[in-house]
Amino acid sequence: MSHTADVSTDLTGTDATGTGPTGADPTGAGVRDRDELRAGATTAGPSAPAGNTAYTVEFAGVGRTFAAEPVLRDVTLTVAPGEVLAILGTSGCGKSTLLRIAAGLDAPSTGTVRIDGSAVDGIDARCAVGFQEPRLLPWRTVSANVALGLPRGTRRDAGAARVAQLLELVGLSAFAGHRPREISGGMAQRASLARALARNPGVLLLDEPFGALDALTRLKMQDLLLDVHAAAPTTVLLVTHDVDEALQLADRVILLGREDGRAGATIRQEVVVPGRRPRDRGSAELAELRGRLLAGLGIERHGQPRGLPSTSTVPHFPY
Ligand SMILES: Nc1ncnc2c1ncn2[C@@H]1O[C@H](COP(=O)(O)OP(=O)(O)OP(=O)(O)O)[C@@H](O)[C@H]1O
Ligand SMILES: [Mg+2]
Repeated sequence: MSHTADVSTDLTGTDATGTGPTGADPTGAGVRDRDELRAGATTAGPSAPAGNTAYTVEFAGVGRTFAAEPVLRDVTLTVAPGEVLAILGTSGCGKSTLLRIAAGLDAPSTGTVRIDGSAVDGIDARCAVGFQEPRLLPWRTVSANVALGLPRGTRRDAGAARVAQLLELVGLSAFAGHRPREISGGMAQRASLARALARNPGVLLLDEPFGALDALTRLKMQDLLLDVHAAAPTTVLLVTHDVDEALQLADRVILLGREDGRAGATIRQEVVVPGRRPRDRGSAELAELRGRLLAGLGIERHGQPRGLPSTSTVPHFPY
């Protein structure tokens, strides 16, 4: 019996395309989603790194046009190793597209992305992705879904221990044997986050990872992300709609949007967030930055989104 059993395969029994035992598309959403499962999981190849290094991510003149419609334009940005960068922008401005390009799930129409100095060309094993939707394999248990994120070649015992540790961290130990249909949307999102963390990636790309969580769980998961980031070096690109979340978690926040009369979104604001984490949510400095970012999102009145109570710290999806 091999002592180097590949847990990511053993626990899941799935194939490298993530299409499951029958080859059917689990999401019913086509090849693009199978690619995404591969990026969220461990199947990006045997070269997946052990994960003890945070990498630089450089966007140089990145643009993306879909069917002659420019979505992104001239995004130029360097994210330092270990930095947490939050990406804000109105719905449909291209945030997910930018993350997909960084992960190698999509190719830019212009420009390049480099990770640790080498160009991203196809699904990149140095990244792990937590998607906007959990994208769990429905026929696998929660535990087996998390195990999909383990680096290839992980020993069975080490992998099982790591999965148990991650499930504990995200509060899902009691649901390890459940199938995705037997857990709530918020639990599925936590399982998806655990899967992304399983690889200890050098670059962690998170697309609204806390979107489906209630306010309290959301705060707990934000703390968890900070703990994970403090414990294991990783560069984090976090897409969020929540300005307060961005100001709590990020070293720097960028706001994507279109400039007047120009097609395609680009970086319209860049804010370096002062202070060490955890930050005082009531600080005047953060309040000033919040007002600037909300104004940049087109939400001007007293720095508060219209129609939401002034006590709200989580202006979900009004823009
Ligand atoms: N594969 C694709 N083919 C055609 N158009 C696409 C494709 N992917 C994204 N788009 C378009 O690009 C634009 C940006 O989409 P994207 O998902 O990046 O936005 P987003 O900022 O993440 O939005 P949201 O906040 O709602 O998640 C949208 O108009 C979308 O329809
Ligand atoms: Mg999106």
